[in-house]
Amino acid sequence: MRHLSREQLTETQWELVQAAHAASEHAYAPYSQFRVGAAWLADDGSVHAGSNYESASYGLTTCAERTALFQANNLGYRGCFIGLAVIAHAPQAQQPCSPVTPCGACRQLIYEAACLRGQPVEVICANANCDQFIVTDSDELLPWGFGPEQLPPSLP
Ligand code: THU
Repeated sequence: MRHLSREQLTETQWELVQAAHAASEHAYAPYSQFRVGAAWLADDGSVHAGSNYESASYGLTTCAERTALFQANNLGYRGCFIGLAVIAHAPQAQQPCSPVTPCGACRQLIYEAACLRGQPVEVICANANCDQFIVTDSDELLPWGFGPEQLPPSLP
């Protein structure tokens, strides 16, 4: 895990953060006011972004990382992700100054996305001001994760 400044990011990493930032503008977060954007980078260079979508029942809420992953899957992108950027905004008074990291459920799906490709997925976590970053990966976020290779082979 590395703490980086804007100047230390590559152009590709910065563009992915900007895509996540743009997606956060679409967040539907009337209950938490915590607007999250996520952007996955596929190995063909395409970017697949999404935002969190909340429910009045709270438990049905879907995080930005998963919204973006599911949307990408529906476009035929699976097992091809090399990077992910995440960013969150809150109302000014409660603005998180540190980068926000993916929740446990999302770490599982990020881990599985890495398993599907056979390579760790780089994860860039940005703070709301886009001036502090944590760069890590799927293995570090979920060590000893449970993956598809541990399941018995599926029946014909
Ligand atoms: N949230 C995400 O979208 N991604 C995360 O990794 C952490 C949490 C959302 C879910 C909910 O809408 C809000 O942030 C507060 O938990």
